Amino acid sequence: MRTSHFPRHLWPLSTHFYRRRLFLDSHDLTVLGRRLGTPVYLYDAATIDHAIAAYRHGLGVWPGPGLITYASKAWLSRPLAHLLARRGLGLDVASQGELEIASRGGFDAGLLHVHGNNKRVELLQRAAEAGVGAIVVDNLYELSLLERLNPPAPVALWLRINPDLLAPTHAYRQTGHHGSKFGMAVEEALAAARRIAAIPHLRLTGLHVHIGSQIFELDPLAASIDRLIELAVRIEQEGLGTIEALSPGGGLGTPYTPADPAVPLHRLAARLCAHAAESWQRQHGGPHPTLILEPGRSLIARSGVALYTVGAIRVLSDGSRIIAVDGGMSDNIRPALYGARYTAVLARDPLGDAIGPAKIVGPLCESGDYLIEQVHLPEVRPGDVLIIPVSGAYHLSMASNYNGVLRPAVFLHQRGRILPMQRRETLDDLMRRDVFAVN
Ligand SMILES: Cc1ncc(COP(=O)(O)O)c(C=O)c1O
Repeated sequence: MRTSHFPRHLWPLSTHFYRRRLFLDSHDLTVLGRRLGTPVYLYDAATIDHAIAAYRHGLGVWPGPGLITYASKAWLSRPLAHLLARRGLGLDVASQGELEIASRGGFDAGLLHVHGNNKRVELLQRAAEAGVGAIVVDNLYELSLLERLNPPAPVALWLRINPDLLAPTHAYRQTGHHGSKFGMAVEEALAAARRIAAIPHLRLTGLHVHIGSQIFELDPLAASIDRLIELAVRIEQEGLGTIEALSPGGGLGTPYTPADPAVPLHRLAARLCAHAAESWQRQHGGPHPTLILEPGRSLIARSGVALYTVGAIRVLSDGSRIIAVDGGMSDNIRPALYGARYTAVLARDPLGDAIGPAKIVGPLCESGDYLIEQVHLPEVRPGDVLIIPVSGAYHLSMASNYNGVLRPAVFLHQRGRILPMQRRETLDDLMRRDVFAVN
C-alpha cells in the first residue's frame, strides 16, 4: 500500500491509515459514518490547535502584543466558541446571532469585535451595552447610528478601510476594491475619525482592513497593511486618537485539492506579521499597537471532514460516473456559489486505484447541486461512505433547509473521543417557526 501520494496536508492531523482504511485516531471512518448517520461533519481539535499554533508562531514576529480573532462566519456554535475562548482567542462576529452564540458560548465581551457592512441598530445597541472589544465602523451611515446611541460607557471603534486593492481570488470573495460594498476609502475614514473625535461616547481605538478570502499571495495583503498604517500615522498626526489595535483581517488561503498551493500556514502568517512589523517601523516607528489577525477559513477548514453515504450511481456512455450522495448544496453551497473544488476518498479504500472520473452530486432539485465536478475514485457501491476533506469552513455556516432537508450533525474528535457538538436537525425543527393564522 502506498500512502506517499496521499495529500496529508488536506486532512486533519488525527487521520491515518490502518489496514487500507481511513481512521480518525482509533475510529474507522466507515464505521463512524454508519454509526453517526450521514451526512455528518467531524472536526478534529488537534488540527484546530495546530492552526492556532501556526498563527501564534506568526505573531511571534510582531514586536508588540498580538491576538488571534477567529472569524466566526466560517462556522460557529456554542461548543466551538467555548473551545476557542478557552484557548484565549478573540472572535469576530457579524450579527446579533453570532454575538449571542459567542456570549453564551463563554466569550468575554471584551474579546468580541463586531463587523458587517449594514449593522442593525439593535446590534450596535446590544454590542455597546455588552462592552464589546470594538465595533468596526464600515461606513458613515453606521457612524451616524453610533453617534445617536446612548451607551453606558464609551464605545471603542475601529474604522474599516477600503484600500482599493483587488485580491487575487474569486470575485465573490474580493472585499477590498473600489466598488466593493465593504469599508471606507481612506479620505472617508479620515473624515469619520474627525467626527468620532468630537463625540464623547465614542473612542477611536483601531483600524481594520480585509481585502478578501482564499489568498495565497502576500503582496496584496502587504499593500493593504501599508495603507492601514499610513492612515494610522495621519490619524495620530492630526491628534484624532491613538491606534491601539491594527487589524489586517483574515483571508489567508487554505488548500482544498492537491492542485492548490500548499504553503504552510505558519510560514504565511509569519511573512504577513514580518511585513506588518517592517511597515510599522518604516512609516510610524512608535510603540506597537496590538496586531489582530482574523482568520476564519485557515483556522478551521482543514480540521473538518464531511461524511456522506453513496446512493444512486449513474454510468454515462463515456464510462464516467455520476455518484449521488445524501448531502449537497444544502450543507455545502461553495461549489454552486463560486465553483469551489474539492477532492474525496472512499472511506473503505482511500488508496484504491481509480477506475475513472466521477461527479459527486447531491439529492436536491437543482443541477447546480453538486459537491465535486470531477474526482477520480475506485469502484464505488451504494452504501459506501465517501469523505470530503477541508470541509470545516463556510459549509455549515451557510447550510440551508432547501428541499426540506435536515442540517447535519456535527462532532468533535478530541484526544480519541468523538464528542457531539450539534445534533442533527429533526422534522420538528423544520416546523418550529410555522404559525397557523391562515385558513
Ligand atoms: C471582516 C472579515 N474578517 C475576516 C474574515 C475571514 O476571512 P477568511 O475566512 O478568509 O480567513 C472575513 C471573511 O470574509 C471577514 O469578512
